[in-house]
Amino acid sequence: MDNKKINVLICCTGSVAALKIPEIVARLLQEKIEVKVVTTDRALHFFDSSTLSIPVLTDADEWKAWTKRGDPVLHIDLRKWADILVIAPLDANTLAKISNGICDNLLTCVVRAWDLKKPLFFAPAMNTYMWEHPLTYEQIEKLESWGYREIPVVEKTLVCGDKGAGAMAEVSTIVEIILEERGRLVTDR
Ligand SMILES: Cc1cc2nc3c(=O)[nH]c(=O)nc-3n(C[C@H](O)[C@H](O)[C@H](O)COP(=O)(O)O)c2cc1C
Repeated sequence: MDNKKINVLICCTGSVAALKIPEIVARLLQEKIEVKVVTTDRALHFFDSSTLSIPVLTDADEWKAWTKRGDPVLHIDLRKWADILVIAPLDANTLAKISNGICDNLLTCVVRAWDLKKPLFFAPAMNTYMWEHPLTYEQIEKLESWGYREIPVVEKTLVCGDKGAGAMAEVSTIVEIILEERGRLVTDR
């Protein structure tokens, strides 16, 4: 067994920042990291999953995979497979769901079933108006109380033209954080 091998599950929600998924995946593959992507249906609007050379899994895959007792339960298999879970981008809708324990699609089921002893990072992405709503702070605080780690938003001109906080962290920041965590996990093995 290769002790340095690490499995990263990218969970992608319906923010326009999902445009960056192909770039995140490419950078991780360059680093010889095993990657799978889980997306919500909305996120698929923002990138072409057929251009990625790795599995891109949706809610439909979860339900296709199971027809009878003994068949795989995809969200549980993914939870076991992944060493690191990264929710990027995390939109306001899925942030609200996760912070309240809702699990109504493949992505939120993986997160709900996540082993709290394993690292989970989340990179929020939303319009400044949404970002500044008090709910956002409350919900992020709840995620952090469970040990999930925030990859902070940045301030810039958003795709909608507004300028302010709420944009997803740069791809380089997200990749760097994953690589640092890989270093830690590999050292501990
Ligand atoms: C063009 C477009 C861009 C969007 N960008 C964002 C975003 O950056 N952040 C966000 O929280 N919601 C954004 N939304 C709204 C979400 O897509 C919407 O809340 C959706 O229901 C999220 O579903 P999901 O969480 O299941 O992926 C956007 C919607 C559209 C139409």
